[in-house]
Amino acid sequence: MRHKILVTGGAGYIGSHTTLALLEADYDVIVLDNLSNSSKASLERVGDIAGRKPLFIEGDLRDAALVNQIFKDHPIESVLHFAALKSVEESVREPLRYFENNLFSTMTLCQAMASANVFNLVFSSSAVVYGTPSIVPIAENHPVGQTTNPYGRSKFMIEQMLTDLAHSDPRWKIAILRYFNPVGAHASGRIGEDPNGIPNNLLPYICRVAVGTLTELKIFGNDYPTIDGTGVRDYIHVLDLANGHLSALDAIRKNSGTHIWNLGTGQGHSVLEVVKAFEAISDRPIPYKIAPRRAGDVAACFANVSKAERELGWKATYTLNEMLRDAWKWQSTNPLGYK
Ligand code: NAD
Ligand code: WQD
Repeated sequence: MRHKILVTGGAGYIGSHTTLALLEADYDVIVLDNLSNSSKASLERVGDIAGRKPLFIEGDLRDAALVNQIFKDHPIESVLHFAALKSVEESVREPLRYFENNLFSTMTLCQAMASANVFNLVFSSSAVVYGTPSIVPIAENHPVGQTTNPYGRSKFMIEQMLTDLAHSDPRWKIAILRYFNPVGAHASGRIGEDPNGIPNNLLPYICRVAVGTLTELKIFGNDYPTIDGTGVRDYIHVLDLANGHLSALDAIRKNSGTHIWNLGTGQGHSVLEVVKAFEAISDRPIPYKIAPRRAGDVAACFANVSKAERELGWKATYTLNEMLRDAWKWQSTNPLGYK
């Protein structure tokens, strides 16, 4: 019988790519998603590509009765927990909604897992927990918690909650994965990132300028102490990220406790480097203007990935050009996303 996995937030950007990777690796997948930031179409397309569908349950992770029932109905062995609200900007405006959604959904999930004797959990954390890094590349033992916004604090609080949980009961096997900047899409161009409204993140914004739904990119600051003055980030292909989850799942099944891994490439690229590379790949101009720095941004943020390489036997493989090529294939073939 196939290993059965519950994927929370599996209709979303990273969850849909990871669901596909799980199906391709012969897992059975149940997705629970309330579609608050996604579309069912992503999972239909995942099913087309894989030739096998995940079971989709539309519902909210904060609904304890529903979540308990899912564990009663299905012999789930492990959970990948992606479901969360993720906009930094929105979290500053609506902190309670962010804490309520992100914390309460994780608590409900962990309670239901413990009741069902399911203890393997992979959690989507973020480099945002490092706050303003005191040193780059950032290793997992860099201090955390000096986060600059409620979204980041919700991730930090969940990390602490999961660590306390694992201390309380040695049956828990928990991976905390700190993603750097996920970009790109499946090479088919059929699934990809489709944020609601005007994107906050660089790549989706550039993609929309390239297809003409937005007119011009604002580059937030060109006076940082970086190679060209613009912000430097560690962009990682979403397919590399998806594979990192499979490696983390294998690793925790052999080891109790909480384990933290950075998932990045270890390489930093500036905003201008990304813009130039994207223009070359898409053959479209990306008009931009330099705007003031964005509140809460840091100059440079990239990962030390040696722990993940050593302990997971995992390494990111895609280059920046390949990430941009795949992001552009998705956006150019789906100019309106899933709509
Ligand atoms: P996404 O918004 O595309 O996916 C999240 C999914 O969770 C959505 O489909 C949404 O509908 C669902 N969801 C939210 N609250 C829910 C709830 N209460 N019940 C059920 N479903 C719910 O985001 P993503 O980019 O795929 O991010 C996935 C995870 O990775 C999130 O936890 C996010 O915080 C984390 N992360 C993302 C990034 C990034 O840049 N994309 C970076 C670091 C960490
Ligand atoms: C990248 C670079 C911007 C948009 C965020 C979250 C983080 C994580 C990933 C979830 C920066 C610059 C951006 C634009 C720009 N998400 N930029 N013009 O800020 O590194 O990380 O997403 O966990 O928590 O904070 O990503 O893509 O927004 O920005 O100049 O319109 O692009 O200043 O240097 P960031 P980003």
